[in-house]
Amino acid sequence: MSFDLVLFGGTGDLTWRKLMPALFQAFRHGKLPPGGRILAVARDERSDAEYRAFIREKFNGVEEAKQPSDDEFARFAELLHYRRMDLSQPAHYAGLKQWTEERNADTVVLFLATSPNLFSTICEQLGAAGLNGPHVRVVLEKPLGHDLVSAQEINRIVGATFREEQALRIDHYLGKPAVQNLMALRFGNALFEPLWRRESIANIQITIAESIGVGTRGDFYDTTGALRDMIQNHALQLLTMIAMEPPSTSEADAIRDEKLKVLRSLKPFTAETVTRDVVRGQYKAGTVDGKRVPGYLEEAKVPAGSACETFVALRTEVQSWRWAGVPFYLRTGKRLAARDAQIVVNFREVPHPIFAGTRQANKLVIKLQPEDGLELHLLAAKGGGPAQDGNEVLSPVSLDLDFDKAFPSERVGAYERLLLDAIAGRLNLFVRSDEQEQAWRWVEPILDAWSRDTIGPRAYVAGSWGPAAASALVARDGCVWAEEQ
Ligand code: BG6
Repeated sequence: MSFDLVLFGGTGDLTWRKLMPALFQAFRHGKLPPGGRILAVARDERSDAEYRAFIREKFNGVEEAKQPSDDEFARFAELLHYRRMDLSQPAHYAGLKQWTEERNADTVVLFLATSPNLFSTICEQLGAAGLNGPHVRVVLEKPLGHDLVSAQEINRIVGATFREEQALRIDHYLGKPAVQNLMALRFGNALFEPLWRRESIANIQITIAESIGVGTRGDFYDTTGALRDMIQNHALQLLTMIAMEPPSTSEADAIRDEKLKVLRSLKPFTAETVTRDVVRGQYKAGTVDGKRVPGYLEEAKVPAGSACETFVALRTEVQSWRWAGVPFYLRTGKRLAARDAQIVVNFREVPHPIFAGTRQANKLVIKLQPEDGLELHLLAAKGGGPAQDGNEVLSPVSLDLDFDKAFPSERVGAYERLLLDAIAGRLNLFVRSDEQEQAWRWVEPILDAWSRDTIGPRAYVAGSWGPAAASALVARDGCVWAEEQ
């Protein structure tokens, strides 16, 4: 299958930090369909050779195992082309169309790795140039809107040029191998399904913790915050994967219909429940990985006195027969104690304990980061005989699946997976417009309540697990966060 992949924003951060390394890995793994061309477009004048040299240099910043040798890069570079485009010029789109027609590839993927305020110009111009035929797909990178209205506006603009199945919205968390594993665990095995419900599950915790701060992105981050940056998309997408009903097929829309149902079943927030069930925080100076780090307000490009949240913890429920009354806790933050993303499914305790002493409910931990894996925590007899009081001694043990070890050569990164899916036209892991809008609808009361609240975020020390109020939030239900267990 031949393809043309056009990267709008071809000299930007996303392209060289994420997309090029992912494309190179796909190339190295032999997964990129042969007969492809990758065209970077951007504002300034460069030759193909200059662009290739620019990308080569950027690869020096990539982790060592993922850097190409000179020979590998030379072969990869043959796929890379560059074209100057002024995105407001119809003639430049006509030129682009001509470029694609020279080859007439089976698939043309247009990746909009630009600021979203260019989406409308680009889509209109692509439509006017007729670069929206059935073999064309457009990939949209976040942020996809700032709130419901702006997300709807983006969808309206994109929808005027492309049909829904041509528009691929990226949430890179859906490309992480652990998410595929979650699907496999739930729908490829019969073991867990009977337990996957309120009768057996006490609560579910989704944590996406980062140890990094906002770095040099202070100005962008300050207009975004953790709720928009991580909860509205990544954390909610993980929640839908955990809570969805089994889809009837593995077709993209069968899956996305079920995910949408979950988003629609989330308990809506009111001003009152925002105060009670949502904690927002902002880091102050502290120590992370043994190094002193500044507070959010001291970071470059962050406005003085900003009330932007760098941490959110919240409690919600999925209002359905399967999940009624089961708390779902979502938590994310920058400058936390560790880089750690995981979903913890806490099962209920045994109804009638016959062993004295250790009591611990089973839990299943789906680990996304730093490594992906699965842990099932069980209580087992230690085998050392009973204690002096005659009671059997039970101890927690875990069944531990390390996927990096189990399938060493087959792990592909999130962007690599999603780019290959975009080229192949597999839509399962892309977010449909109605899902995206529903997610905005759900977070909006939180944004509203915060915009009226004068107290602002709670401070937490960099290197901690966030404000104490986040622990209090789960303690109210008699729970603790995974790291406190
Ligand atoms: C991005 C956010 O979507 O995800 C960043 O904008 C965040 O703020 C990043 O750091 C985290 O992704 P990952 O894959 O490193 O967990």
